[in-house]
Amino acid sequence: MSFDRSLKIAPSILSADFANFGAECEAIEAQGADWVHVDVMDGHFVPNLTFGPAMCAAIRPHVKTVMDVHLMIAPVDPYIEAFAKAGADRLTAHVEAGPHLHRTLQAIGGAGCSAGVALNPGTPAEAVADVLDLVDLVCVMTVNPGFGGQKFIASQIDKVKKLRAMIGDRPVHIEIDGGVDPATAPLVAAAGADVLVAGSAVFRGGSVSNPAPYGENIRAIREAAQGVYA
Ligand code: DX5
Ligand code: ZN
Repeated sequence: MSFDRSLKIAPSILSADFANFGAECEAIEAQGADWVHVDVMDGHFVPNLTFGPAMCAAIRPHVKTVMDVHLMIAPVDPYIEAFAKAGADRLTAHVEAGPHLHRTLQAIGGAGCSAGVALNPGTPAEAVADVLDLVDLVCVMTVNPGFGGQKFIASQIDKVKKLRAMIGDRPVHIEIDGGVDPATAPLVAAAGADVLVAGSAVFRGGSVSNPAPYGENIRAIREAAQGVYA
């Protein structure tokens, strides 16, 4: 399949109803989500706990698009096989999660998943310079990872521009994660990001029994970003 650089909205199920993940995934896809973003947290690399491979396996049959799994865990390597078996399409590991990023990304590819690499707000773009040929996505954190609903960190926009130039013609997505809403989406789309993760800004106002607000929220982000996306 050829590389798709069109603008994509990836709702984070961190803001979904935790008692209803399967139905929530189906609802956001029916309402226009391009990918489903799954935030895995270990209470150690980040100060919060979410879910593991068993939950990913449980939602897999309910996700028809792309299961985009963001691993906020350290160490990463011992869990790659389990998340791959759970059906993840992509596993994104953090630069800051360990000393052997290159090995981790090789192992993700070896397990049959696309590999992504994420950068915390305090980590410079240059940290991924030597792994760009191993990944199909660079995730720029625009909040410090751990929680939904935090304020967008605008200083990261320059990092997105820098990465856009570093990536050049490579088939590598730039994903933005944290504080994305209709006001901030155009800032990162104009800087060169093509995948916008959004949790609170997608799920607010809706539910599985009233999913129309999900669609309105997704459309509002997409329309705000599309106008300036090159
Ligand atoms: C933060 C997570 C994000 C988060 C985004 O650690 O990686 O995916 O859920 O949530 P919002 O869009 O509410 O900032
Ligand atoms: Zn995330």
